Order: sequence, then structure tokens, then C-alpha cells
Amino acid sequence: MIASVLATRRLPEAVERRLAALFRTVLNESDEPLGREVLEAAMREHDALVSTITDRIDAALLGIEGRRVQIIANFGTGTDHIDVAAAKEAGIVVTNTPDALTEATAELTILLMLMAARRAGEGERILRAGDWKGWGPTHMIGQGLTGRTLGLVGFGRIGQRTAAKARGLGMSVRYFSRSRASAEIEDWLEATAVESLEDLASEVDILSIHIPGGSSTRHLVDGQLLARMKSTAIVVNTARGSVVDERALAEALAEGRIAAAGLDVYEQEPEVEPMLLSLPNVVLLPHLGSATIEARTGMGMQAVDNLEDYFAGRTPRNRVA
Ligand code: 8YV
Repeated sequence: MIASVLATRRLPEAVERRLAALFRTVLNESDEPLGREVLEAAMREHDALVSTITDRIDAALLGIEGRRVQIIANFGTGTDHIDVAAAKEAGIVVTNTPDALTEATAELTILLMLMAARRAGEGERILRAGDWKGWGPTHMIGQGLTGRTLGLVGFGRIGQRTAAKARGLGMSVRYFSRSRASAEIEDWLEATAVESLEDLASEVDILSIHIPGGSSTRHLVDGQLLARMKSTAIVVNTARGSVVDERALAEALAEGRIAAAGLDVYEQEPEVEPMLLSLPNVVLLPHLGSATIEARTGMGMQAVDNLEDYFAGRTPRNRVA
């Protein structure tokens, strides 16, 4: 029997075509995030879901009576919107797409670093508002990145690719991670491990976050950590909004305790802390980390690979539960 798969959001065309060729595929034509009742019905009607960050897949949904879903192939790397422990308990397989979006997210991290350091968003807003009075020797002076120190919180795939790109910009790299990288990787990226997050925060010019979301990392970057940073420092977050206390960040930016920030992710997406919206020294992007055609197609293909593995009786290659 052909497995029935519901994709909770529209996916790149090539991915939808492959899904439809392999499975009895149902698409969410409206592309609106699915409501609770629709998700509940889907759990009973389909063998598999292709989920995204806009689906809240909690213990109650996973434990629903009459459940048919056996595998949730998440389109994305982060799975903090899925109760993975509850999935395990219910015997539902969960997979993710860890490889496809690495380069795109590392690129976007560099973009935010440059935009925040060179005040690019602020400059564009001034120009579009018709407030640009012409070139001036002291107009909109920012900071250069060459010779500055990047501090990476987390040194997995995305952290390491960000390090490689930052080396290309002439930056030096330090990192804090639960697990130390191999000597080969440290040598290759000329990256130095720092003992504590506190030390990293106080030493670096740019602090960039590359760890998963979830309860164990919630507000790791809080008012106390921000207070350790240089007044010229920049915070960049392309990981999960929950890692940063948005209000504390906004206050530090407003009071000039740090220089700038670049954010792609937020605590309550698509809501953004209102104070951040009014500050000139923060660049705000709408969760675009993986938004390249290469990454989004690759993510979809990885999700389909995982479904193919599962329904062929193999262990899915990117199984997280
Ligand atoms: C995805 C992401 O686009 O993969 C992740 O963890 O944050 C994003 O880049 C999103 O999660 C899609 O579900």
C-alpha cells in the first residue's frame, strides 16, 4: 500500500513533484499554518507528516487517540517545535534535515554581521525615507570586521561554516561549545576554544549564536551575559529566538551597552519585541536563514529521503527520535 503523506506547508516544486511520485501526497494548498484541529485530523488520516517550524507538535498531539502517523519528517534542522521525547515514547519516528541549510545559514550570519557592523539597514531606511542629505566625512560611521574577533556560541555545522567564512573576512575566531572540536578542525579554522560562555562574551567583538533552541538553552544570552560584553560589541542570532532574552537585548541596545545586533529569529515568531522595532541599531530579518533555492530544495529532498528510508524498512538517515 502506498503511504499517505501530508506536507503541512507548500514546498519547492521539485520536492512536491518527488513526494507526489513516491507517496499519496496531500498538499496544504493555502500554505497557511495548519490549525490545531486540522493537525489532529492529519495525525489520524496520514502515515507521515512533513512538518515545519510553524507546526506545534506537542505531547497531546503525538499521543492522540486513533493515531495513524508513524513518522514526522521535519523540513528543517531545529526540532524544538516538536516534543521529541513524547514522540519517542509514542513510537513515532522524527527526522530532520541537518546538512542542506548549513551554507545558507552561515551566509546569512555573515550578512547580519556586516549589516549590523556597517549600519546597512539604518542607512537604507534613511535613504528610502528621503532623509539622506549627501555624503559626509563623519556620516554613518560603522565598524570594520577585518581584524575583529568573532565569538561563536556553539560549534556545530553552521558555527564551523560561519568560522570559515569569517576567516575569509580576516576575522579571528573563538568558540564556546559543550564538546570541543578536533585539533584538525581547530587548526584548519584557526579557531580557539574558550572555557566559558561568560569569558567568550567579554572577549569578543561579535557574539554569534549557533546552538539549538529548547528549554536547556532558553535565555542563555540574558542581561547578565550582555553586561559582560564590550560597548562596541555586536550580537547576531540566526539560531533560535528563545536563546536570547529579547527584552534584555533591546535594553542593552537602547542604553548603548552594546553597539548593535542582527537578528533573524525571535522568541514568539512572527511577533517581535516592540522595543526592538523602534531601535536604529538592530537589523531585523524575517527568519530567512535557509531561504535560498539550494537550501530549501535540499531540505525538502532530505526530508523525502528520510520518508523513503522509513517506508522501505530502513532506519531513516537523519533520525532524531
Ligand atoms: C527552517 C530553521 O527554514 O532548519 C531550521 O532549524 O530554523 C529554518 O531555517 C525552518 O525551521 C523550517 O521548518
